[in-house]
Amino acid sequence: PAFHRVVVAVDGPSGSGKSSVSRAAAEQLGFDFLDTGAAYRALTWLGLERGIDLDDADAVAALLPEFEATYRIALRPAERWVYVAGTDVTEAIRTTELSRRVSAVARVPRVREALNRTFRRVLAEGDAPGAIAEGRDVTTVVAPDAAVRILLTADESVRIERRAAERAGEDRVAVAASVSQRDAADRRVVDFIEPAPGVRVLDSTRLDVRQTIGAMVELIRERCGLD
Ligand code: DC
Repeated sequence: PAFHRVVVAVDGPSGSGKSSVSRAAAEQLGFDFLDTGAAYRALTWLGLERGIDLDDADAVAALLPEFEATYRIALRPAERWVYVAGTDVTEAIRTTELSRRVSAVARVPRVREALNRTFRRVLAEGDAPGAIAEGRDVTTVVAPDAAVRILLTADESVRIERRAAERAGEDRVAVAASVSQRDAADRRVVDFIEPAPGVRVLDSTRLDVRQTIGAMVELIRERCGLD
C-alpha cells in the first residue's frame, strides 16, 4: 500500500458540507484531518499579499518556494489554524473575495503538482492511526490509493442554502452566484461531480449534518474493519 495508515479521501463540490463533515468524522475516529483547499486558499492569499497578477501562471508558480517554506496547517481536527509567511490567515482565506480568486491559482499545473506532493507527504507521515483528506481531486489525483474514497454530494439548491446559512448577513443572490460560478470554474480543473471507479457516493441532500457525519463514520468503519 502507498500509505502506512488508514487514508480516507473525500471529494465534493462547494457547499456539500465536505469540510465540516469530514472534520467531524476525523474527530470521532481519532484521525488527522487535512483540508487541501486551505493550501490553495493560502497560496492565493500570498499572491494577493504580494500584489501579483493571479492570471500570470509564472508569477503564481514563483510563489511556491516561499509558500512551501512557510505554510503550516493544523492536522488535529479540533484545531483550526493556517499560517503562511508568518501570518495567521485562518480567517482571511475564507472571505468571498478570496474564494472567487482561488480558481486562477488552482488551475496552474505546477501549483497542483507541488501541493499534491506536500499533501501526500503529510498523509504518509502523521502519527494518528488514520487521516481524512478532503478536497476536489483527492479521490482521483492526490490519494487514488486511499483505503476509502468518498464523494460527498448534495443537490445544488441545497448546497446554496447551506452556504447562505453559513454566511448569514451576506446577499443570498451573491452567495448563490458564487456557488454556481465556483462549480463551473472548478469543473474546468477537475471533475468532482462524476465519481471515479471505486468511489462511494454519499448524498447528503436529505440528511442533516449529524446524520451525514454518522453515515461517513459508518462507511469508514465498515470499509476498514474498525469497530
Ligand atoms: O474546498 P475549498 O472551497 O476550500 O477549495 C478552495 C479552492 O481550491 C476551490 O476553488 C477548489 C480548489 N481546490 C482544488 O482545486 N483542489 C483541491 N484538492 C482543493 C481545492
